[in-house]
Amino acid sequence: MDGSPLRKDAPEDLAPRSSTRPIDEGAALRASLLQELPEIPARYLYDDTGSELFERITGLSVYYQTRTEISILESRAADIVAHAHPRQLVELGSGAGRKIRILLDSLRADGRGVTCTMLDINELFLLQSIDRLSVDYPEFAFRGVVGNFMTDLGRLGPAGGRLVVFFAGTVGNLHPDERRSFFGELSQRMDDSDALLLGVDLVKDPARLEAAYDDPEGVTAAFNLNILSVLNRRFAGDFDPSAFRHRAFYDPENAWIEMRLVAKRKQDVRLGAIDLELALDAGAEIRTELSCKFTRASLEASAAAANLTIDRWYTDPDDLFALALLRRRRP
Ligand code: AVJ
Repeated sequence: MDGSPLRKDAPEDLAPRSSTRPIDEGAALRASLLQELPEIPARYLYDDTGSELFERITGLSVYYQTRTEISILESRAADIVAHAHPRQLVELGSGAGRKIRILLDSLRADGRGVTCTMLDINELFLLQSIDRLSVDYPEFAFRGVVGNFMTDLGRLGPAGGRLVVFFAGTVGNLHPDERRSFFGELSQRMDDSDALLLGVDLVKDPARLEAAYDDPEGVTAAFNLNILSVLNRRFAGDFDPSAFRHRAFYDPENAWIEMRLVAKRKQDVRLGAIDLELALDAGAEIRTELSCKFTRASLEASAAAANLTIDRWYTDPDDLFALALLRRRRP
């Protein structure tokens, strides 16, 4: 599936990224499952089923992020466009592609032409959103790149007049070390005319944060447990999802939410494709996601390490979520 054609007019995006992919990926997964606290990289959450479950999460009343980000974007899009005046939009982790429409509407109202490049790990969602966007915004050119925002920033075309958007607080899913290299690489690929619009979830009452990751309908639990079926399929595994339960908690020291899967009983799991046997005791935990929460100051510090600075800060009246417009700092 990876590397298959998206757009006939963008051949450079069609080639498989590298021949080492399956081996490297398996080795990386193997190493992370063998850590003292076993871990499954969060991107395995987003197969077709997981991407659909995440879409359901965005509509849950406890999950305030999506609707809050959309409301900020709707009220501030004109200001964002006026400040960034982009010639190109680049969206990282575009998902169903709904939020970018708010910016496209503002650009259209201004009569600005842009090319729009969208990067997502899920090919199905990417194809669908590009098809729909091309119909609804015929004056803009759309291009899709199936890829990962940690490894594929080099496939997004040249800097210059570019507004890179990274919504949903997804930057929070990176470990602080990964975030450092992500900001560093992105910053290196930006020039003075580029800007980064970043959505971040804000530090708040832990009970409210935890509720957002453990909804009463169990959609988030299903989303989390689905990662085991993804591994079963991709790595010839025999995880029994019914032998695990969902757990989410806020770690105030690190200012992050952790999602974990807890083994309900002692069990052995085998992943044939990476030759791995996992012996899990009852109560053993596997980490599946981090979701870092920010303050303006903590984001400023993290960005400054990559020579990025917060130029504009947009938030909602309750300070639940923020959109930061970042630029490269002039020396
Ligand atoms: C929107 C992808 C950043 O961390 O809140 C939702 C994903 N995980 N519920 C987040 C997610 C559990 C999410 N991102």
